[in-house]
Parts: sequence; C-alpha cells; structure tokens
Amino acid sequence: MIKFEQVGLRYGIGPEVLSDVNFSLSPGSFHFLCGPSGAGKSSLMSLLFLGRRPTRGCIHAFGKNTSLLDRVELSKLRQNIGVIFQDFRLLPHLSVFDNVALPLRIKGSPEKKIREHVEELLHWVGLGDYLNRLPQTLSGGQQQRIAIARAVISNPKLLLADEPTGNLDDEIGMKLMGLFEQLNKLGTTIVIATHSLKILDSLPHPRLILENGHLSVFDPVTGQLAQAREDENFRYDADAQPSIEAHGMLGPQGDQGPNAPDSVRAPRDLLEAI
Ligand SMILES: Nc1ncnc2c1ncn2[C@@H]1O[C@H](COP(=O)(O)OP(=O)(O)OP(=O)(O)O)[C@@H](O)[C@H]1O
Ligand SMILES: [Mg+2]
Repeated sequence: MIKFEQVGLRYGIGPEVLSDVNFSLSPGSFHFLCGPSGAGKSSLMSLLFLGRRPTRGCIHAFGKNTSLLDRVELSKLRQNIGVIFQDFRLLPHLSVFDNVALPLRIKGSPEKKIREHVEELLHWVGLGDYLNRLPQTLSGGQQQRIAIARAVISNPKLLLADEPTGNLDDEIGMKLMGLFEQLNKLGTTIVIATHSLKILDSLPHPRLILENGHLSVFDPVTGQLAQAREDENFRYDADAQPSIEAHGMLGPQGDQGPNAPDSVRAPRDLLEAI
C-alpha cells in the first residue's frame, strides 16, 4: 500500500531529519511509530500523508510512484488517508460539526447521511453537545477528539495518528485505541505515533522506531529488531511480519476484511461493534 525506498528529508538547508528510510505498509497492517522527541515521527507522518515530498528517495503509495504525480493527483490520493495531526489542524472558522463533515462533503456524500454520521460519531466521542461550537472554544482534549472524528468519518484506507491520545485521560485514550483496533479489524491500515508505554505495551503490533532520523523495526512478539540503518540492503516488508491474526487479535473476519463493502465499514456499524 505504501513503500518507502531510501527516503531522506531535510528542511531547507538544515541537516537531514530522516535518512535512508526503507519500509512498507501492507493493507490491513497496524504499526506503532515511536522514538524520542525530535526523532522525526511527525516528519515521517507528513511524508506518509503525502503532505510533503521527500528530498531524496522514493515513496510509492496506492500503486503509484508519488514523485511522478502533480499536486492535484497527490490531493486525490490523499482522499484515501485520514490523519490526526499532533497539532490537530482544525479549521478555526468552521464549527465542530462542519470540521468533521468536511471529508464527507469533499467526497460528495448526501447531506442527510452526513448529518446522521457526523452527529453519531461526535456523540460517541463525547462531543454531542458541542456541534455548533468553534474548535478554539474547546479544550485540548476535546479538540483532539474532533480531529479523531474528522480522520475516521470517511473510512479511510490508511489512518495516520500522531500522538492521538496525548491530551486525553486514560479512560478515553483506551476507548479510542479500541476504535483504532476495530477500524483495523475492518480493514483500515493504521500507523500511530505514540510516546505512551501503556499503549505500546497493551498491543503487540510491530513498532517503527526512529532514532536520529534512522528507522528500525521492532517486533514485540518475536523480540527481534531489524536494524535498517546498518544494512544497506535491508527492506522492511510488513507482509513478512507476523499477522495480527497470528497475534490472536482478530475474531472471525466474515465479510469484514479489507474488501468489505462500504456499508459494513460505515461509522454506525463501527460504533455498534465497540
Ligand atoms: N517545518 C520544519 N522546519 C524546520 N525543521 C523542522 C520542521 N519540522 C520539524 N523540524 C525539525 O525536524 C526534526 C524532527 O522533528 P519532528 O517534529 O518530526 O520530531 P518528532 O519525533 O515528531 O518530535 P515530537 O515527539 O516532539 O513530536 C526536529 O529537529 C525539528 O526541529
Ligand atoms: Mg511529533
């Protein structure tokens, strides 16, 4: 679904903040992205979101070499991606409702369906009484929940979450991790950047570890660390990692796999499943 080859990123004339990054995400995979502050997690997220081009190397996304795409083609590809930015990036002049409705409006969904789904999701994240408020009149944790709702409302193929529980208390943080798990079971590919040891220890997903801009991959099930930085020929392939089924995280898939019809993956079905 996504493949990074020898990717490097620098800002302006500064040093490289990401160097020789090689990995791929297969459809339906779930990865954590970790590393100390300043290691490049948000920078890697911005590349995964196709919001920034690498300064060297190549990113393939959804079957396309992104270096060959223009801005319009990139923005089309981005419609497959839901993102929760570390700094939320809510639109300040739009209400809570309109912020969350935005991805559905861009897709051209009927307004009646939009109202139903947005209201339901905002109730679920505990913001049912704040539909008409402007985001900046709400707390950090409330704004984070708006950003989460906006990212998941349109059932993206790839969900990127940069410290999505950083401003939330433990209870709602774990509830949201349950939402991400459920989305993953329904076929969404997920990458979550987190510092939280509690979250990392609670789920056995492979970890992309950034340190000084170099990426390694740690599999908590086998305890193996693949040192991408020391092996020039290393190519991390998520397909080769133990599957989530092997971790015993999945129940019977039925028709809820990656190719499930949209109706199965609608927020309503999702919330009922949790
Ligand atoms: N827009 C930018 N312009 C210049 N330098 C930047 C920019 N964004 C990030 N950097 C630099 O890139 C490096 C990596 O930053 P990044 O925000 O990706 O780290 P991070 O791992 O997400 O950190 P944190 O855990 O604190 O969120 C840092 O040295 C930072 O100063
Ligand atoms: Mg960051």
